[in-house]
Amino acid sequence: MPADIGEVLIDEAALAERVGQLAQQISTDYQGCDLVLVAVLKGAVVFLADLMRRLTLPAEVEFVSASSYGAGTTSCGDVRISLPPDLALAGRHVLVVEDIVDTGRTLQALVSCLRAAGAASVRTCCLLDKPSRREVDFRADYVGFEIPDQFVVGYGLDFAGKHRGLPFVAVLRPDA
Ligand code: PRP
Repeated sequence: MPADIGEVLIDEAALAERVGQLAQQISTDYQGCDLVLVAVLKGAVVFLADLMRRLTLPAEVEFVSASSYGAGTTSCGDVRISLPPDLALAGRHVLVVEDIVDTGRTLQALVSCLRAAGAASVRTCCLLDKPSRREVDFRADYVGFEIPDQFVVGYGLDFAGKHRGLPFVAVLRPDA
């Protein structure tokens, strides 16, 4: 275990079970729909890889970037969003796949962008939700786990670029 990793909040078995439940629910809800999964780089990649393999319907995958501070091509409110130039969403059903919702600003902005791109529907699926940190009125449609306001890493989430590959979600030690 890396020295800066503290308590394991969600272990591998719990992640696998919950991801399976989410995939089952999504597969039921989107049966017969033209579904596009839109994953938010970089944190969502591990969750996406597991979730999409548990879906029982065909779904396309696209990737977008979102940043509060960095450079981007499209600005939506406070958040800069980069969409693939060839992204074709008109009339299609979009499910945004995200690792964590914190203030809610990223997903609120991204959902607006994707609706503006002509999607028939836009919903969101977040592995982790920190409701105590919310700054805008945003609620994800599918949530894996509600967690307390602690800095967590693993299963896609990083601290200064590290720990995305840990197979569990753990709390970063406060002195890290
Ligand atoms: C994290 C996370 C969400 C966003 C959530 O991304 O992946 O995209 O922050 O925060 P919010 O609800 O306050 O908007 P981060 O900027 O850490 O990038 P990363 O996914 O590349 O690690």
